[in-house]
Amino acid sequence: NQGVAPVTYGQGERPPRGDYARARSDYTCAQDYAQYSEADHDTYRRLYARQSAQIEGLACREFIDAVAQLGAPDRIPRFEAISERLRKATRWEIVGVPGLIPEEAFFALLAQRRFPVTDWMRTPEEFDYVVEPDVFHDLFGHVPLLFNPMFADYMQAYGEGGLKAARLGSAELLARLYWYTVEFGLIRGSEGLRAYGAGVLSSAGELRYSVSSPEPRRIGFELERIMRTRYKIDSYQASYFVIDSFDQLFEATAPDFTPIYERVSRLGEIEAGAAADGDRAIALP
Ligand code: PHE
Ligand code: FE
Repeated sequence: NQGVAPVTYGQGERPPRGDYARARSDYTCAQDYAQYSEADHDTYRRLYARQSAQIEGLACREFIDAVAQLGAPDRIPRFEAISERLRKATRWEIVGVPGLIPEEAFFALLAQRRFPVTDWMRTPEEFDYVVEPDVFHDLFGHVPLLFNPMFADYMQAYGEGGLKAARLGSAELLARLYWYTVEFGLIRGSEGLRAYGAGVLSSAGELRYSVSSPEPRRIGFELERIMRTRYKIDSYQASYFVIDSFDQLFEATAPDFTPIYERVSRLGEIEAGAAADGDRAIALP
């Protein structure tokens, strides 16, 4: 269990939080359930209550229908209990990790239909905002949609695509697709504009902002446009991309990305909040 390489981080950056000595060589670890204090469970309960109170009308139906699969809302769930339900629904499972893990390890887990969930809880001081993903973000934000068959298949395809992108040196372009779909994606269906991205669904303020504020740009999903677009990591997004359905997302990302990476590299980057030729603007109702 000692063989895991330390997670790399850039000069001047903080080392990732979490105890990596616990990790196996694939970066997974057992959920350390005994570590949770009553205060941790209480933080989970309060975060869950605050978010579930505002999902109606803002989160997509697929998310709302599946959120109860997380189990009792008043204590941090046991990962194994969720995995049992998930295996039956979509052949996915969740696995514990000590925190952020290297890109390739992350892609490999997704390709195996194993979603890594950070096991530690943010402190009460971080109630409104935590820099790194914690157990609440990973569970509440990401896990409900893994119960949806089409989204579940998209996540596996993303993992396989990530391993390939890493070989091609294009992981940064692919990361933007993850950011603007899995983390901050919006969907416009029969009920109107709704959120499906985990970053928005687990955020107290950005959930309403992303779906109803007149401020940000909302653009119809376009793969190459997304791969060219930089993103904000320390504020609400300046642009959101809107899909019509998870089928559309799956089909639009099915082609071989190899020539797409080449073309996108030539076309160059677009700033986070900038407009671009060909944008399909999505208007608020
Ligand atoms: N089709 C992509 C490729 O060939 C893989 C992929 C699928 C990436 C789905 C992201 C999402 O590289
Ligand atoms: Fe996330």
